[in-house]
Amino acid sequence: MVKVNLGGCSSFVKDADYKSYVEKALSALDVLEAGTGAGNDFLGWKHLPTETPESLVEECEQIRDAWKEKGVDLVVVIGIGGSYLGAKCALEALSHSFANSLKGEKKAPQLVFAGHNLSEEYMSELMDLMKERNTAAVVISKSGTTTEPAVAFRLIKQYIEQTYGVIEDNVGGRFSVLTPVGILPIVLAGFDIRQMLKGAAEMEEACAKRCECNPAVQYAAMRNLLYDNGKKIEILVSYNPKLQYLGEWWKQLYGESEGKDGKGIFPASVSFTTDLHSMGQYIQDGERHLMETVVTVENSNRSMTIANDPQNLDGLNFLTGKHIEECNAMAELGTKLAHIDGGVPQLSVSVERINEYNLGALFYFFEKACGISAYVLGVNPFNQPGVEAYKKNMFALLGKPGYEEQAKALQARIEK
Ligand code: PA5
Repeated sequence: MVKVNLGGCSSFVKDADYKSYVEKALSALDVLEAGTGAGNDFLGWKHLPTETPESLVEECEQIRDAWKEKGVDLVVVIGIGGSYLGAKCALEALSHSFANSLKGEKKAPQLVFAGHNLSEEYMSELMDLMKERNTAAVVISKSGTTTEPAVAFRLIKQYIEQTYGVIEDNVGGRFSVLTPVGILPIVLAGFDIRQMLKGAAEMEEACAKRCECNPAVQYAAMRNLLYDNGKKIEILVSYNPKLQYLGEWWKQLYGESEGKDGKGIFPASVSFTTDLHSMGQYIQDGERHLMETVVTVENSNRSMTIANDPQNLDGLNFLTGKHIEECNAMAELGTKLAHIDGGVPQLSVSVERINEYNLGALFYFFEKACGISAYVLGVNPFNQPGVEAYKKNMFALLGKPGYEEQAKALQARIEK
C-alpha cells in the first residue's frame, strides 16, 4: 500500500490553508467519481484494477507461452510516451539490475524498447541485436499515427514474428499501464501481473474514499497549495536506482495532464544519492521555487552489511555491521532535513518494498491523484493539445503532403 506523509511541509503551509485545499481536492474527487468533468470520455482507467478480466491476463500469458515455445529471446516493445513508459518503469523496478549480463538460463526473453526516439544510431544498433536473436515485437500506438513508433515499426517489421496493437478507447496513453499496453510486456518479462493488479485494486478502494484520509486527496491538496504559494517545480525523488523510470513515467503523467492553459507544476525527477552530486547544490541553495516528493522504500529486497577493516584505512569502521540500506535511509533523512532547512517542502509517498504489488499501488495512486490534482488546478487532465505543435512543424519540415503552407511559413522564419 502507498502511504502519504506531509510532515515535511508543515513549516511551509498553514493548517487552515491545507484544510481548504483538501476541500477543493474532495470536490475534484466528486467530479472525477461522477464523471462530470472535462475529458470524461477518458475515465476508463478508473476501475481497471478491479474490473480487468482474468481472461485478459490469461490471453497475455498464452502469448508469453507461445513465444517461449518458439524460442523467442528478444521482444521489442514499440511505443512512445504513455504507450511505453509504464511498462519500462515496471521492468526497471522489478528486474535484476544486471539481468542481461548474468550467466545462466534466462527464464524470460529480454525486453527492449523502440519507437520512443528518432535516433538513427539507436535503430541501427537495435538491428544489430535483432540479427543475433530470435525476435518478436509488440507494437503499441493508440492513434496508430505517431511518427516515432510508426518509423520503428516500418524498419523492423521484417524481423517480427507477431504483432499486437492494444489500447482501449476510453483510456489515454499515460493512464494505460494497467491495460494490455502495460500488462502484456510485464507478463512477457515474467512478472506477476496479478499481484500488480491486486496492489492497484487496494489503492482504487483507498483513493475513492471521500475523506481527508484519502492519500490521493492529501497529495493533490498539498501540491496544489504549494504551487499556489510559489513552488512551481515538483521534483520526484527516489533513493533506489530501480525507481528511476518511475520518475520518467510520473513526469509524463503529470506533465501532459497538468501543463496546459498557461498553468501547471513543472515535473522533474532525480535519483539520489547519485544526483545529490549533480542537482543537490541547486535543490539546497538555488531559486526557491521547488518542492520535492520523495518515494520512500522502507525495506530492501536484498541484505548486505558493511565489513570491518582491521586497519580502518578509510576511517569507515563506524559503519561496520550496518546495512547499506541503513546508510541510504540516513542519507534520505539527512537530505530531507537539509532541504527543509533550505526552503524545499517535502512530501513523502512510501511503500514497504519494491515488488509487483506495491508498484501496482503506486501506479494507481499517482493516476488518481493526477486526475484530482488537475481538476483542482482547473485543467482537463486527459488531453494533450500542446503535443501537436512540434508534430505539425516536423511534418511540414519533412515535406508531408498537406503541410505546404506551414512549410513555407516555417522556411521564412528559418531564413530570417
Ligand atoms: O499519454 C498520452 O496520451 C501520450 O503520451 C501518448 O501515449 C503518446 O503520444 C503516444 O501516442 P500513441 O499511442 O497514439 O502513439
